[in-house]
Amino acid sequence: MSVTSTPLTPELTDYLRSSFSTEDDFLRDLNSQAAVSGIPDIHIASEQTACLQLLLRSINARTVVEVGSLAGYSTIVLARALPPDGIVVACEKDPRHAAFIREKAAEAGLGSVIDVLQGAALDTLPSHALLTQSEPSIDVVFIDADKPNYQNYYDLLVPHVRVGGFVIGDNALAWGQVHMADPENEPKNVRALRAFNDRMSSDPRFLTTLIPLGDGMVVGLKVSA
Ligand code: DHB
Ligand code: MG
Repeated sequence: MSVTSTPLTPELTDYLRSSFSTEDDFLRDLNSQAAVSGIPDIHIASEQTACLQLLLRSINARTVVEVGSLAGYSTIVLARALPPDGIVVACEKDPRHAAFIREKAAEAGLGSVIDVLQGAALDTLPSHALLTQSEPSIDVVFIDADKPNYQNYYDLLVPHVRVGGFVIGDNALAWGQVHMADPENEPKNVRALRAFNDRMSSDPRFLTTLIPLGDGMVVGLKVSA
């Protein structure tokens, strides 16, 4: 009997990718076309895809807000887990990236599900229909944008997340440095991600865990208003 957990070696990660991913040719092509268009090659790992979709489907999610969509890889993953009348509001600051996402969403047949909101999310979101209703009407928030603003996105969006909904933050392992007192690379971002994890795990409105797939996702289920 042991309480030792199993470290995710590269071999085990390959196994997860080959057995528990919903990445397909469309998403692989999206990544290569994004690179050709000069968009940074940054997106969730393929082993995160099925996990995110499972979370959305487990609560019958219809409304998702994604903050930081870049080339739209995760946007399409999220949209594919919604019913045809669902919506992903994809917040993307860069106009070129936003145009790329719109093009890919249309190609994927998800043009009516993906609503690209171009601009800084803290400016564009407050007047969006999902945030101006009297009842909380967001099922899932996925935060994957500039790390120092994670807590600002959280403050803005959490009041609009329904009880029974999820808040998910990407890069919760901070490129493997989340536990370090003195991180070597991108210390400001690492500290912001650590602070965000601490904020979520200490928020009594949420039951929170960290799923160590890809660079980690902190996942909170809203259990009370
Ligand atoms: C990087 C990875 C991410 O998932 C992200 O959201 C931002 C940056 C990176 O590897 O630099
Ligand atoms: Mg990320």
